[in-house]
Formats: sequence, structure tokens, C-alpha cells
Amino acid sequence: MADSTMLEVRNLKAGYGTRKGFVRAVDDVSFSLGRGEFLGIAGESGCGKSTLAYAIMRLLRDNARIESGSVLFKDRDFATMPAADVEAHRWTDMAMVFQSAMSALNPVLSIGEQLTDAVHAHRKASAAEAQELAAEMLSLVDINADRLKSYPHQLSGGMKQRVMIAMALILKPDLLIMDEPTTALDVVVQRSIIEKIEDLRSSLGFSVIFITHDLSLLVEISDALAIMYAGEIVERGPAGALFSDPRHPYTRGLMASFPSLTGPLVRMGGIEGSAPDLLAPPPGCRFSARCPFAEQGCREGPSPALRPLGGDRFCACALEGRLR
Ligand SMILES: Nc1ncnc2c1ncn2[C@@H]1O[C@H](COP(=O)(O)OP(=O)(O)OP(=O)(O)O)[C@@H](O)[C@H]1O
Ligand SMILES: [Mg+2]
Repeated sequence: MADSTMLEVRNLKAGYGTRKGFVRAVDDVSFSLGRGEFLGIAGESGCGKSTLAYAIMRLLRDNARIESGSVLFKDRDFATMPAADVEAHRWTDMAMVFQSAMSALNPVLSIGEQLTDAVHAHRKASAAEAQELAAEMLSLVDINADRLKSYPHQLSGGMKQRVMIAMALILKPDLLIMDEPTTALDVVVQRSIIEKIEDLRSSLGFSVIFITHDLSLLVEISDALAIMYAGEIVERGPAGALFSDPRHPYTRGLMASFPSLTGPLVRMGGIEGSAPDLLAPPPGCRFSARCPFAEQGCREGPSPALRPLGGDRFCACALEGRLR
């Protein structure tokens, strides 16, 4: 692991045991994240984004498990370390804002109680110190400290989401994973929250993994991007290069399905069809059934691996280089 690397995920496989078989929702996923870096992960609903986030945090429950691979964080493997050690690092070193974050607040406790509880659960602190930290974190997310006395139902959706971000950051983690943190919010509130995260990242210096099905949210903010399809990363690289010159047909499809902010209006094409069943993915490239360029060879053999394109870019399309 390079010195500047915060997190390195290697060949991670994870999924769910079901009556019908194993649903491998994360299939051989590898990427690394630098200190202070912002990685955006995008892909359609059901492609395995949340499963990946939960696997990294070792928060998989019930029928879910990590099959193989490693999650190297500060030189230790989160995927295999004893559960008690994970407990010690989770939330203090690595924190997450959940997809259903707004309903994760406890309705019968005040915001202040929830924030101070989070401090006491992980660190020795006096009541006054915890209170001070809670007030400081609220102001960092632009909420007045008076709100410590408020209950969740007294806050707007955007404010609740900011409280969840304050709670995730209160122990000053080095890595913040955000799973669709703004999906339930209107566009203006989404923007302001994303700007806030960006501010905090530059002042506090943590790394971010930001997960969304909406690629357009990641345009301005990401350093690097990973595109997931049916459990696999099909393309990744520096965000600017990937946006200006997407190489995988799936990435191209995703790009065509969001309107350009500055350019002329583009037709919202979307991508026809739906993703394959992860219980029994088809042979060859998993996108081939929906790909306008697919050839017979694309539907055979193992799923194509990510190949380096140079410039820190990787693409898992056998036709890459021939498509122009
Ligand atoms: N508890 C479970 N048991 C069996 N399969 C599951 C379970 N939870 C999720 N899955 C399946 O795993 C796959 C990945 O789900 P996941 O929630 O990680 O996707 P996602 O990319 O986060 O989707 P979304 O954008 O809708 O949040 C899906 O095919 C889903 O049906
Ligand atoms: Mg999800």
C-alpha cells in the first residue's frame, strides 16, 4: 500500500445467501482511495453499491457475508480482522451515512442527546466536552446550536441529513462513506449538502466515498469515479477524464441519460432493458444484452476484467479501443 493510500479494496466478493442460491452483489471489486480523496461510485439500482459500502464497514448482517478479498485500511485488513477490532475502528476511523439516514435518527431523543451519545459510546469525554463537541459539529453543518434541544420531527429533511453528517464526523474519522446521502432531498437542498461535504473535506481532510445512482451529482465534486454494473466495477479513473471521454458502453449510456449542465439539451436516452439477475449472471460481459456494440464474443467466457488504459484509467470492455 502506498503511503498516500487510505483504503485499498482488493478482489472483494460479498453477497447474500438465499433459498435460491448465493446472490453475489459485489463481485471481484478492487480500487484504492488516497488520503483526502473523493471517490464517486455510480450505477443503477441493485448493482451492489450499498452492499459494497456495508462490506467495507463490516456491517453486513443476517444472510450477508464477505466471501473473499481484502479491505486494507491503514495497513490492516478490515475484511478479516476480529470483530472486536472492527468495533474499535468503526465510527472513530471510518464512518458511514446510510441510505435511509433520515429515518435512522431516534425520534424520542433530542439531537443533542444523540450526538453526545455518539461521543460517549466511543471515547472518554466529560458531559461538558461531549456537549461542546456536539455544538461544534452542528455549527460545522450550518445548524444553530439551539437545535441541540430539538427532536428529529422538528427538523426539515435537509437538516436531519446534516445532523446525520455531523454524527458521522463527530469522532473525526479519516474515511466517510456516504450511501445516497441526498436522494430523498430536493435538488437545491442536495446541492447545498454536497457543497457542505466538500467544505468539510477540505477543512478536515478526510477521504470520501460518495455512492449514488445519479452520476450528475458527481461531476464537479469527485476526484475519481468508479462505475458499477451488476456487481462489478466496469470502469474507473480520474473523474475529469472519465466524464470527458467515457470508454465503457455502460458509462456512455449513463452519461447520455443525464442532461448536460452547460451544453445543449441532450435527449435523455437512458439505457433500455434491465440488469441481469445476480443469482445467475450470464456468461461473458454482463452488459452485453443491453450493449449496442456487443458482438458474439462478448457473450462468451468469463466476464471481462478491468484493463489499464493508461493515465490511471481502467475499463472492462473487450471492444475498448475499437469503439470510437
Ligand atoms: N438481504 C438480501 N438478500 C438477498 N439479496 C439481497 C439482499 N439485499 C440486497 N440484495 C440484492 O443484492 C443486489 C445489490 O443490492 P444493493 O442494495 O447493494 O444495490 P444498490 O446498488 O445499493 O441499489 P440501490 O441503488 O437501489 O440502493 C440486488 O440485486 C439486491 O436484490
Ligand atoms: Mg443502495
